[in-house]
Amino acid sequence: MTAKWLQIVLVGGAATLLAAWAAVAAPSAAVPTPEALWKSVKTLEQQRAIMPGTRAFQAGSRVVDIYTVDLSNSPASRTIGPTGKITSVTRYPAGSLLVKENYDRNRKLTGITAMLKIDGYDRDDRNWLMASYSPAGKVLSYGKVNACIACHRMVSKADFVFAPPPSQMLPVSVWKAFFPKQAISPMYRKLLAAHPGAVIGGARP
Ligand code: HEC
Repeated sequence: MTAKWLQIVLVGGAATLLAAWAAVAAPSAAVPTPEALWKSVKTLEQQRAIMPGTRAFQAGSRVVDIYTVDLSNSPASRTIGPTGKITSVTRYPAGSLLVKENYDRNRKLTGITAMLKIDGYDRDDRNWLMASYSPAGKVLSYGKVNACIACHRMVSKADFVFAPPPSQMLPVSVWKAFFPKQAISPMYRKLLAAHPGAVIGGARP
């Protein structure tokens, strides 16, 4: 083969490879690193961007999240709307970011979970990237996290997004199935007893 030919073959091959790479890389281009997502979470915290339909330090479900603070970025907040009807939302747009901060009884932060909607990321499960972090920002889980998805799928009608207690609650048996070692918050037990109609995902609380 002449040098000229070799050059054509090499350049052609590189172009084909580049095109193939671009096709594969395109959908994942919007996937942030865990560190980049942590930065977005921090920004929402600084803005105290409370998710419409929720309250700061509302009741959580377990002792590790006796209090929770839900945050949302503007695409998600706009979708929920100022009246805060989380249960009537059926689709969140790409770019929506929801955050749940978990606090213990002393209002000490115990952990942070986040879900970010990315076009084409996980078509079977509504394209949410799931993440959890320690209070200092250590990545505990990240990506298509089955444990998160398995539970959030219970509210597939609302695009995998729960309304906070007491509007929607899960029975103790469901929490125990997912977190066998974690104690249920006494406040949550009271809410379950007072609002039996709000309990989803199980026959009895
Ligand atoms: C056993 C069920 C269950 C599991 C497992 C679970 N969640 Fe949730 N999550 C809930 C419920 C219920 C709420 C509503 C608030 C509450 O009850 O504390 C919620 C709230 C949230 C919120 C606030 C937005 C919303 O839907 O209200 C985010 C973000 C979130 N969870 C992310 C995660 C991530 C990430 C994981 C995995 C690391 C995870 N969750 C695991 C049940 C679960």
